[in-house]
Amino acid sequence: MQDILPDGGVIRKLWIGEADKYREHLLRLDSASRHSRFGGGVSDDFIRNFVDLSLSLDAVVHGFFVDGVMCGAAELRQLGVRFPRQAEAAISVEKPWQSHGVGSALLRRTLLTARNRGFRLLHMACLAENRRMQQLARKFDAELSFDFGNVVGEVESSRPTPLSLMREIMGDGHGFATAMLDLQTRMFRPT
Ligand SMILES: CC(C)(COP(=O)(O)OP(=O)(O)OC[C@H]1O[C@@H](n2cnc3c(N)ncnc32)[C@H](O)[C@@H]1OP(=O)(O)O)[C@@H](O)C(=O)NCCC(=O)NCCS
Repeated sequence: MQDILPDGGVIRKLWIGEADKYREHLLRLDSASRHSRFGGGVSDDFIRNFVDLSLSLDAVVHGFFVDGVMCGAAELRQLGVRFPRQAEAAISVEKPWQSHGVGSALLRRTLLTARNRGFRLLHMACLAENRRMQQLARKFDAELSFDFGNVVGEVESSRPTPLSLMREIMGDGHGFATAMLDLQTRMFRPT
């Protein structure tokens, strides 16, 4: 299914060496969004360390990019070797881009990736009062089941199929092409 994104926006996986883009995105979140994303108030230093740690733990991060700037992110990380089929997911969208379908598109990509990695259960650390995130999750009720009865939401992911793997590969191909175009545009931009 094709995502409808705001003009000029693309979603692609974050590349190795792009940690700064992720860090800057999280640091730009307004205080309410930052609070919702991390389940409480956190400092700038916490975010800087968080990104390094997260990427060192092999997180798969999808970014929503506008003109090469990362304005939204969805992170997927395996819970640990003791829970090989479980992962944690978290989404953040900068205020000007909220309520434009970006969160939905990021969650859709993340669920596809989770499915293709064989994750059966996805935890979403979401505050009980975060109605917007819960509304978003409900949109995927048909393929998943969420439980927001307490602070953590749990999602059951479907099994991978050849089609779901192909959809992820095609999404990555498109992301690679747009990232190369973006790089070229910036390299040849008159100074
Ligand atoms: C929660 C968040 C990721 C949603 O992203 P988004 O891009 O705003 O979401 P979408 O535009 O795709 O909207 C998803 C659904 O949320 C609901 N929604 C959107 N805007 C809303 C608003 N202003 N009030 C209430 N619900 C709203 C709608 O049900 C919408 O689905 P619909 O457009 O099909 O009706 C984003 O608001 C955000 O980053 N918040 C701060 C961080 C956070 O809370 N992260 C979640 C922790 S895991």
